[in-house]
Amino acid sequence: MKGVFPIDKFRTLQTPFYYYDTRVLRDTLTTIREEMARYDRFVMHYAVKANANPKVLTIIRESGMGVDCVSGGEIRAAIRAGFPASKIVFAGVGKADWEINLGLEHGIFCFNVESIPELEVINELAAAQNKVANVAFRINPDVGAHTHANITTGLAENKFGISMQDMDKVIDIAVGMKNIRFIGLHFHIGSQILDMGDFIALCNRVNELQDKLEARHILVEHINVGGGLGIDYGHPNRQPIPDFKSYFATYAGQLKLRPHQTLHFELGRAVVGQCGSLIAKVLYVKQGTNKKFAILDAGMTDLIRPALYQAYHKIENITSEEAVEAYDVVGPICESSDVFGKAIDLNGTRRGDLIALRSAGAYGEIMASGYNCRELPKGYTSDELV
Ligand code: LLP
Repeated sequence: MKGVFPIDKFRTLQTPFYYYDTRVLRDTLTTIREEMARYDRFVMHYAVKANANPKVLTIIRESGMGVDCVSGGEIRAAIRAGFPASKIVFAGVGKADWEINLGLEHGIFCFNVESIPELEVINELAAAQNKVANVAFRINPDVGAHTHANITTGLAENKFGISMQDMDKVIDIAVGMKNIRFIGLHFHIGSQILDMGDFIALCNRVNELQDKLEARHILVEHINVGGGLGIDYGHPNRQPIPDFKSYFATYAGQLKLRPHQTLHFELGRAVVGQCGSLIAKVLYVKQGTNKKFAILDAGMTDLIRPALYQAYHKIENITSEEAVEAYDVVGPICESSDVFGKAIDLNGTRRGDLIALRSAGAYGEIMASGYNCRELPKGYTSDELV
């Protein structure tokens, strides 16, 4: 089964472009809201890094979520899309002074702090602005996630966060600072996680750390468990909405949230992944020595995930019903890694056909580059193309 697309409208647009099905996005947001509503004190901060398209951000804002930002640029994008500063958390291992100042000026909800030197700078800059900054410490839980090595972040060897051994020390330092208010702990173990066991391992770790803190009479108001829930790249039509029910139930069942605590999540991919497709045109079909190449006008500059992580995106010829043949689907960039898929079954493909690369709503448009002096792809929502 193929996805459903407004082909006639597509024919009037310059390819390649991203297409966002707002029905899928809104259904996903509704599911998240309903599943979270089963539990008290669960709060979502959408991870802007997955997709900062203004139209997508606006729809997400309308659903009532907050945001997780990792740069000054993302804070600006969130504010522009109407997110209140009180719902912004700001993470990142290397925050520049201007970015910290921007967060302070807006009065964002919380800085997720990853080192003592960073804490000192936030304290100084907050003092200069006569403000008190809310901070949560990102603790590296040393929990591995069963996902691609490039997107696992919670191991001791990763650059992220503060080690568990240093947790008490940094909290003591923060409590002694005049312009810092310590409010929470932050964790994130990786991305594209489908095994709930990985999240259970994180819950167990958080429970251990909380017991230790309680023994020291340290109260933490906010626990933030990051993001990471994966999507079904193989079956975007069969499973367009990720299994949020199991995800939230896992945390509700396993994490021992204290009565005074709020639990925060930072999902990115699971929110926007399935609503987006990269739409490309076939430039040429080339007969190689023993295979056929479908050469698209989209390349790794538009969607880098296959080249960077050997990621799979389902590929469909959305304008052909001819008998299926196998093609290597490639882009026009001068790099041998500019390949979207090898020996892909497509309906008989010709020059001018339109191709959809599915499940590209997360880490697609936002990771596009101008390599080879190419223009960045535009993004359209289904609302605009009716
Ligand atoms: N919170 C933190 C601290 C993160 O580092 C990330 C993602 C998220 C939340 C959101 O994770 P999600 O729910 O989207 O898994 N470019 C890669 C993914 C990099 C993820 C980086 N951090 C990809 O295309 O697969």
